[in-house]
Amino acid sequence: MKGKILVTGGLGFIGSHTTVELQQSGYEVVIIDNLSNSNIGVLDGIEKITGIRPVFVEGDCTDINTLHELFKANPGINGIINFAASKAVGESIVKPILYYRNNLNILINLLDLMPVYGVKGFVFSSSCTVYGEPDANPITEDAPTKKATSPYGATKQMSEDIITDVVNSGSPIKAILLRYFNPIGAHPSAEIGELPNGVPQNLVPYLTQTAIGVRKELSVFGNDYDTPDGSCIRDFINVVDLAKAHVVALERMLGDKSDDKLEVFNIGTGEGLSVLQLINAFETATGVKVPHKIVGRRDGDIVKIWADPKKANEVLGWKAEASIEDTMLSAWNWQKKLRERGVM
Ligand code: UD1
Repeated sequence: MKGKILVTGGLGFIGSHTTVELQQSGYEVVIIDNLSNSNIGVLDGIEKITGIRPVFVEGDCTDINTLHELFKANPGINGIINFAASKAVGESIVKPILYYRNNLNILINLLDLMPVYGVKGFVFSSSCTVYGEPDANPITEDAPTKKATSPYGATKQMSEDIITDVVNSGSPIKAILLRYFNPIGAHPSAEIGELPNGVPQNLVPYLTQTAIGVRKELSVFGNDYDTPDGSCIRDFINVVDLAKAHVVALERMLGDKSDDKLEVFNIGTGEGLSVLQLINAFETATGVKVPHKIVGRRDGDIVKIWADPKKANEVLGWKAEASIEDTMLSAWNWQKKLRERGVM
């Protein structure tokens, strides 16, 4: 056993894939999840893939007493990966208090308790949303952050600031901020994947649900942007590749491979792909047509953003590996698995 890691929100989309990679790398995992946007069946998926059922605590990280009990019942936790957060951009605009309360309280509780229970390393799920609309692409970690366009984005920026202040205050902890670009796809086993509540807000779950017939048509939000085909450009990162970045980030902190107490990394492929190109890649990879139509722009969308992942490539020794076709195929296989299970 390399160490014991607390994964908050470990039954969610990125949390479950990261738990798999951690267990397969020899870490013991303790998950806390309040099941607000996940379900208990994900534990079975993790166990099927890895042969190990992680310790699971059903609870809410906004409650500090729940966390005290968790740390007492699971002594020796070395690191925390914090996925527990509310994450729907649109919802955050209508329910800002929910977003600030949840995302900031969870973070503050965890940072507060780390020194109490001797936890050394903290990995934070940040987002490329902190950059706003970039002045130039690919974007590096040194690019200035811009005013957030939603309370969700604001919580990511504030969280980065809070972590920075805590580390600079002389706290014994180390932290790594991972700025994710657009995580998509599913585990190649199709045992775990993304399962959004209700109508998906994000592109790929909407696309796969359309391909299988749950949704009639995918709306492409705008084809009159200043991009080669007029649709927005994103850096779509395979969720398993993304999960692996967390493992190397932890290894760096727990193994004292760096003197820096706080580091920031872009986690993306370095390639920009437009919405229309992504639909095309899905159709090529699966042979399944996706009915779609062009509609008006969506408020608040960034036109184009993709990562310069050089720092993560060189410093972490991490690189995105999956092809977009394999990633699309994994998303499709997961969608078909949901259909088999009668979920969707
Ligand atoms: C948003 C957030 C990001 C967050 C991510 C996951 C911002 C600016 N971005 O990314 O921080 O991590 O969600 O929750 O806050 N699209 C369609 N049709 C659809 C859905 C999407 O055309 O039905 C287009 C969008 O206009 C966009 C692209 O697909 O151009 C990607 O959209 P989406 O998957 O929602 O992710 P982002 O908005 O990039």
